[in-house]
Amino acid sequence: MSLRDTHVQPVVKAVVPAAGLGTRFLPATKATPKEMLPVVDKPAIQYVVEEAASAGLTDVLMITGRNKRALEDHFDRAHELESLLQEKGDTAKLELVRKSSCLATVHYARQQNPKGLGHAVLCAEAHVGDQPFAVLLGDDLIDPRDPLLARMIEIRQQLGGSVVALMPVPDDRIHLYGAAAVQPSPAGDDVRRLTALVEKPAPGSAPSNLAVIGRYLLDPEIFAVLRETPPGRGGEIQLTDALHTLASHDSHGPVHGVVFEGRRYDTGDRGDYLRAQVQLAVEHPELGPAFSNWLRTYATAL
Ligand code: UTP
Repeated sequence: MSLRDTHVQPVVKAVVPAAGLGTRFLPATKATPKEMLPVVDKPAIQYVVEEAASAGLTDVLMITGRNKRALEDHFDRAHELESLLQEKGDTAKLELVRKSSCLATVHYARQQNPKGLGHAVLCAEAHVGDQPFAVLLGDDLIDPRDPLLARMIEIRQQLGGSVVALMPVPDDRIHLYGAAAVQPSPAGDDVRRLTALVEKPAPGSAPSNLAVIGRYLLDPEIFAVLRETPPGRGGEIQLTDALHTLASHDSHGPVHGVVFEGRRYDTGDRGDYLRAQVQLAVEHPELGPAFSNWLRTYATAL
């Protein structure tokens, strides 16, 4: 199906790749998926599924792999625990336990070998079919106070094709990301037209300081392109390389980017994970006030 046919189709499905090995967070991730590491009082992946659901995407396909059983258990009912809490009359905790199983209809597909993010997205093809879909990385947390998906959906409705999220990063960090070559777009000050993408550019060679972060709205033409995309950096099939093909060939695309200036945490990175804990703990309705007081005293003494 061509762009003209698909761009008005609403996005209703979300794909959450969560099959990566999480080597940056070893040994914590030896037996526990990094997506299950708690951020304050919820596993990181629950924030991601909540974000999808609040943007209206309640059909979620999670791409999982070995050692990821805990993910399935988290989004399933826990009858024994629920009965116990019900007997005790602890309705507050019962609600907390049930919430993750009611957020969305969660499906699972297994990536048998973690051959890269592009390969993980390809595992979603049978479920997604010929429809545009969202991809939310399972370890990439967008602060719920700074919504991003709704704006990306708006831009896709307006311009068709695929839409990625871009974040300005300091020059000395852009080599850690996929970097975008961009042109301005009349669609808004926060919108760019992508002309090329480079995965982890060599220091000093990035086309801009705009990094691709873990939210994408993809036209289904991505599947055909991914199938033809050879392994790239690290021997993995890179989603960035497939997006580069879409962005740089007139017969594909277009690919637009929404520049995001809000709070975002890569919970697969230990430093960012710690920052997420602190920032979200400070805002937590129950824990926040006491935690903030403690933090102030602690920081003053540093
Ligand atoms: P990352 O590169 O952050 O995940 O992939 P990783 O490979 O687990 O990271 P490290 O470097 O070893 O710590 C971004 C997202 O893509 C998923 C990951 O689970 C993460 O959500 N992913 C990555 C897959 O689902 N499959 C893959 O083959 C690779």
